[in-house]
Amino acid sequence: MDRVYLNGRFVSREHACVPVTDRGLLFGDSVYEVIPAYGGVPFRLAQHLQRLERSLAAIRLDNPLSRSAWEAVIGELCGDGGGEDRSIYVQVTRGAYPTRNHRIPAEVTPTVIAFSSPIPQRDPRIAQKGIAVITTPDIRWHRCDIKATTLLANILAQAEAVEKGADDAIFVRDGLATEGTASNLFIVAENRLITPPKGDQLLPGITRDLVLELAKEAGVPYRETPITVDSLAQATEVWLTSSTREIAPVVRLDGRTVGDGRPGPLWRRMDRLFQQAKERLRQAARKRDETNE
Ligand code: PDD
Repeated sequence: MDRVYLNGRFVSREHACVPVTDRGLLFGDSVYEVIPAYGGVPFRLAQHLQRLERSLAAIRLDNPLSRSAWEAVIGELCGDGGGEDRSIYVQVTRGAYPTRNHRIPAEVTPTVIAFSSPIPQRDPRIAQKGIAVITTPDIRWHRCDIKATTLLANILAQAEAVEKGADDAIFVRDGLATEGTASNLFIVAENRLITPPKGDQLLPGITRDLVLELAKEAGVPYRETPITVDSLAQATEVWLTSSTREIAPVVRLDGRTVGDGRPGPLWRRMDRLFQQAKERLRQAARKRDETNE
């Protein structure tokens, strides 16, 4: 994190301070976005900004910046790594006030934070060997479609996974597997790709939508339908998707082998298409830079 956008200004990290009375800190009264950038260009920015607008509206907070102002801030931060892959973190809280009071103030002055960090290159072992996950009861609230910063249940589920020797956890609610702690869920059953439908039980992932788009273009059959714990256990492939994980193949589920214990053939196909989509963005950025030189 080289510099931070804070309430209208770019400041150095050590000068990026928020009051202890900020409602984001006191109440978790805030929403966020994580936007990947490849070759200095944000990936699916319009979709991320649309989801941010949706999250803000859901918590009754006016969007503090226009679309073009967000694009300018995020565009600046994308350039911080000299074209390396980065993720841009954006957070809007309901701001800081003199007293701690649950009631939403009549006059709101939000806190706006944005910074970028390098996206670590995917560990090649993940593509070769996949990841292990556990299932865990979903103890979250009933608006998981809002990208809120109140992530304690997600953090505890992730910690439980690590304690059990796994990489991550999949939430289960009312007998249905909904999503990962910071990712969406896909399974392959009878050669068809399946992901749960959007709703208040899961985050409408941007990577999820892209995977469905790529599947459609490639003629891969898919369905958006609930995934029962039984169908999860019987799936021939299980994947977790997110802006930072991309498409991660799961090879162990609750200590049992998924499929033949290696990343599956449909994962290899979709991962190739996903990498190509990223590469197209990098090439477009290179072309743009050459034209500007
Ligand atoms: N999280 N579900 C949850 C609960 C998430 O937190 C995320 C992403 C996703 C995937 O969404 P997307 O494809 O738009 O990244 C699904 C981000 C990466 C995070 O919290 O860091």
